[in-house]
Amino acid sequence: MNTVITGLQWGDEGKGKIVDYLTETADVVIRGQGGNNAGHTVIAKGTKYVLHLLPSGILWDNKINVIGNGVVLDPIGLVSEISRIESQGISITPEKLLISDRAHVVLPFHKELDAAREISLGDQKIGTTKRGIGPTYADKINRCGIRMADLLNRPFAEAQITKRTLEVNEILSKFELPTFTPEQVISETFAAFERLASHVTNTIPILHKAWKDGKSLLFEGAQGTLLDIDFGTYPFVTSSNTTAGGSTTGTGLPPTAIQEVIGVCKAYTTRVGSGPFPTGDEGLSDYLHNLGREFGATTGRPRGCGWLDTVLLRFACMVNGVTGLAVTNLDGLDEYEELKICVAYDVDGSRHDLPPADRSAWDRATPIYVSLPGWKQDTTSCTTYDDLPPNAKAYLKKFSELCGAPITFVGVGPDRVQTIKV
Ligand code: GDP
Ligand code: IMO
Ligand code: MG
Repeated sequence: MNTVITGLQWGDEGKGKIVDYLTETADVVIRGQGGNNAGHTVIAKGTKYVLHLLPSGILWDNKINVIGNGVVLDPIGLVSEISRIESQGISITPEKLLISDRAHVVLPFHKELDAAREISLGDQKIGTTKRGIGPTYADKINRCGIRMADLLNRPFAEAQITKRTLEVNEILSKFELPTFTPEQVISETFAAFERLASHVTNTIPILHKAWKDGKSLLFEGAQGTLLDIDFGTYPFVTSSNTTAGGSTTGTGLPPTAIQEVIGVCKAYTTRVGSGPFPTGDEGLSDYLHNLGREFGATTGRPRGCGWLDTVLLRFACMVNGVTGLAVTNLDGLDEYEELKICVAYDVDGSRHDLPPADRSAWDRATPIYVSLPGWKQDTTSCTTYDDLPPNAKAYLKKFSELCGAPITFVGVGPDRVQTIKV
């Protein structure tokens, strides 16, 4: 069984935890999009690991982890992540981690361009992670990017990097931002690339062989559907297809290789960065932040929190072809008296069951809620669906009906073992 794990909200749904949990029965874990804007937290055997570019299967021995062609890879960021994870006792060998030679490289100036663009947007800024993701994908689409394979041919890479650095310097100068010398970009990039070179390979035939040999493949999504460049709350999105389709274009495995799409979503909604958030709720945000929850793994920013929004989830289930929902953080609602679920939006008096494309409509969207009683009971030690309080089961039933997909996993705590298989 080959399975896509995809985020159904604005990221941080708990994809890393679900991927780690499912890796036990998988052979290969593959990232196909995004970069180190992702922050996936996994807690296993009492240790917390935060992963940005490394697939969440890396914590298990004898599993192959692949960074696919659709990922934008910051060599400096990846090397520091590898040393951090290695210092936590996890070995990262070329047999265990494969990097696609087609993956595009995030260069130091991409991060500066990301910052420059945010400055120029003023109060319309996207609130990016400033990891250079947008500018690297822009160079890829604009056909002036550098790929991992290019770095294997140093003279060629040096010429390409020099050309692009000089072009980018013109833009940076306009913003009175520091410019780069080509030598600096080349030396910083190659210093990091040295650690990575032995991992770089043509991952596509390797993945196809694994598929043909009947190995179990797990595709790890980054970000979430509402951050997808096509389906998200544009322009407040990231720069890749975060939805299930990104798993094929970003890995070289075809749609026919996939049997199952698990959509990961929180039992409520969160979002970090700018953009519309109809069900955002200050009371719920304060409540969860006071519990020490909902701070970003990549930037440490507090995440905005709000009620469950099934307008978004219904759409996300459609565009991803979700076959099962993994609902995480149910325990976050344990103490709440009354829970609201958004079933539709009212926009200027008309009802919307799906999110609008018109960005101005988002500002006028008022959620239409139903309310359900809370369960006021600790769920963190529940190990089966039957252990859950009746009101929690009623909440999940309504959740599933409104989204039109069955619930297959429920998360009741951050630890690997706090995952209930339904
Ligand atoms: P990802 O980016 O989708 O992998 O999600 P993040 O790791 O950025 O954010 C999810 C947060 O929720 C992390 O702090 C996880 O440790 C935590 N988490 C995941 N599932 C659960 C759950 O079921 N209960 C609790 N309490 N925390 C969870
Ligand atoms: P994971 O994989 C939550 C958000 C940023 C910003 C927008 C664009 O951990 O779920 P970018 O740096 O990508 O250009 O920023 O996307 N964002 C995320 N929010 N989780 C993520 O990843 C995110 N990656 C990007 O906050 O709003
Ligand atoms: Mg995250």
